[in-house]
Amino acid sequence: MASRPDAVNCQTVGVEKFDELTLRKVRPGDGEALYLLFLASIRALAAAHYSEAQILAWTSHITPARLEARLMHSVGYAAECGGEIVGFASLDVHHGELDFLYVHPKTVRHGIGRRLAEVVEWEAIRHGLSRLELTASLNAASAYERLGYRRLRNITKTIEGVVVPCVRMEKNLPTNQL
Ligand SMILES: CC(C)(COP(=O)(O)OP(=O)(O)OC[C@H]1O[C@@H](n2cnc3c(N)ncnc32)[C@H](O)[C@@H]1OP(=O)(O)O)[C@@H](O)C(=O)NCCC(=O)NCCS
Repeated sequence: MASRPDAVNCQTVGVEKFDELTLRKVRPGDGEALYLLFLASIRALAAAHYSEAQILAWTSHITPARLEARLMHSVGYAAECGGEIVGFASLDVHHGELDFLYVHPKTVRHGIGRRLAEVVEWEAIRHGLSRLELTASLNAASAYERLGYRRLRNITKTIEGVVVPCVRMEKNLPTNQL
């Protein structure tokens, strides 16, 4: 689990440019692409579980600059294919939290989320963490279960007066695998 994921061919993930999937650290200038992916991912994949008002509340406090700053401040990774960012994830080392995990709707269910989670877990182990927690959106909780996370409790976040139900989850990390 804790080794760096290998590249995969983008031919298998439905993007037009045939290249390899690269996992790299988020860098200055990524903000706009990350933000557009974040919006596209939530709007396409969370709509069955949340109302328009809840999705608006979830996305309203994020801007390209804030997202870039948050991912640069934490350990943020982008998954890139043919020069295009197709997913991103981040580790909040201080809180032991998998903070973001988003994949573009056109490339979901092809292993990119798993690869991003693996690199975040690898970073967590490298930073001395033995456990990660996260707040999963209702649409993502089943995917996190497939990635080895277990449900702790249902919670609600209140964002700008709008109640957004989520699930707290955790995973113990295999610290002997560095
Ligand atoms: C959750 C998300 C990141 C998963 O990304 P992905 O690239 O599709 O994930 P993968 O293809 O690597 O799948 C990982 C595992 O989860 C499973 N999975 C993925 N989406 C699933 C879903 N909607 N329901 C059930 N299982 C799912 C896959 O089958 C796979 O399990 P397996 O390897 O045992 O077959 C993606 O759906 C997403 O971006 N969702 C919207 C944004 C979001 O809500 N993010 C979480 C914020 S907390």
